[in-house]
Amino acid sequence: MNIVVGITGGIAAYKAVNVVRGLVLAGHEVHVVATEAALRFVGRPTLEAISRNPVHSELYEAVAEVRHVAIGQAAELIVVAPATANTIAKIAAGLADDLLGNSILASKAPILLAPAMHTEMWQNPATVANVATLRARGVQFVGPASGQLTGSDSGPGRMAEPDEIVAAALAVAAGGGPAGHRADLMGRRVLVTAGGTREPLDPVRFIGNRSSGKQGVAIARAAAARGAEVTLIAANLDEGVLTGLAGSIAVRHVSTTLELQEAVLLAAGTAELIVMAAAVADYRPETVAAGKIRKEAQGDSLQLRLVRNPDILHELVQGRHDGQVIVGFAAETEPDAAALLELAVAKRARKGVDYLVVNRVGWTETFGSDDNAVMVLDATGGNVAQAHGDKQSVADRILDVVA
Ligand code: CTP
Repeated sequence: MNIVVGITGGIAAYKAVNVVRGLVLAGHEVHVVATEAALRFVGRPTLEAISRNPVHSELYEAVAEVRHVAIGQAAELIVVAPATANTIAKIAAGLADDLLGNSILASKAPILLAPAMHTEMWQNPATVANVATLRARGVQFVGPASGQLTGSDSGPGRMAEPDEIVAAALAVAAGGGPAGHRADLMGRRVLVTAGGTREPLDPVRFIGNRSSGKQGVAIARAAAARGAEVTLIAANLDEGVLTGLAGSIAVRHVSTTLELQEAVLLAAGTAELIVMAAAVADYRPETVAAGKIRKEAQGDSLQLRLVRNPDILHELVQGRHDGQVIVGFAAETEPDAAALLELAVAKRARKGVDYLVVNRVGWTETFGSDDNAVMVLDATGGNVAQAHGDKQSVADRILDVVA
């Protein structure tokens, strides 16, 4: 396949050498189009040796060959890595003031962008709008990952690793993804909550629930595998649930419902898909004792007064922005299938979510188990999917429906 790799002027340009190398080793014909700025970060001879082709950067070079359109016309896939905020803005606006801009504008090939920039730039409303515009036109994204940036800061904005970009490019080249791997959440911002909140009574005790976090974490993993940029808010997960988690998943640990609320509302603004898999305590003790509650002081009975916690899902639905998809969970003990469906349909409508994932729980069912059985209701109240099996395949089935 004829692949054009566009390299733009960010420090991550040095990593683009490995993207070119990976695509060449995968048997593709690779033509590098570098901006002038990119060539300040990485040398032309390096790129020519690795791509085994001349590197193009000049708009007024080889004018007789009409190169400014020929490259784009011949391309079967265009990968831009790194794609700076400036380049993303130019592509969104359809600007053609350099060879890369011309090549992209003159091409009908699928486009994959690997953004790389500082967190503030990635989260700037201008960039957010440009990325949304490009997505609406079918442009795909890989990354950015969250991590150490060029300076001392860290956060989302770091270019995806070259291997990941090559894998994404090969998936796009294969028409969306090779067998068993769908790239349908490529670059999407996904927020997942997992686990169960705990409400302290005193420094050593809490009111909690038996959620292990396995199903929520499985959803975070499945979303990352489909190319999403995932934030996972983890409330008191069972030991080992996070083992082997992909580096591209940013994890925030919380314990109480109020902490979960704060973390969720902070991340919700930029999320395109929110999955509230966490089991959230509806009530918390009105007061938390500063020291251990002692039975000598309480006598034969102890009364706890609980107050309502905020309904986080309700707040998310109220503040939902255009195009944001919200998925709620309902863990129910109703044994009768018809009554369970009726209850779930009512809860879906009451919560106002786009999808409600319903599972039956009990003394022996679901909690802590590696398996689950769920049904997914959509906004019409229709039962659109059923899934059972290990929590990872249930997670994938849920994402098949919502992606
Ligand atoms: N949830 C939430 N905030 C709460 C309670 C629940 O965001 N304070 C979310 C859960 O993460 C889950 C969904 O709401 O996605 C399930 O709520 P559930 O407790 O089943 O619904 P309720 O309306 O509280 O109904 P019930 O009276 O059956 O508990």
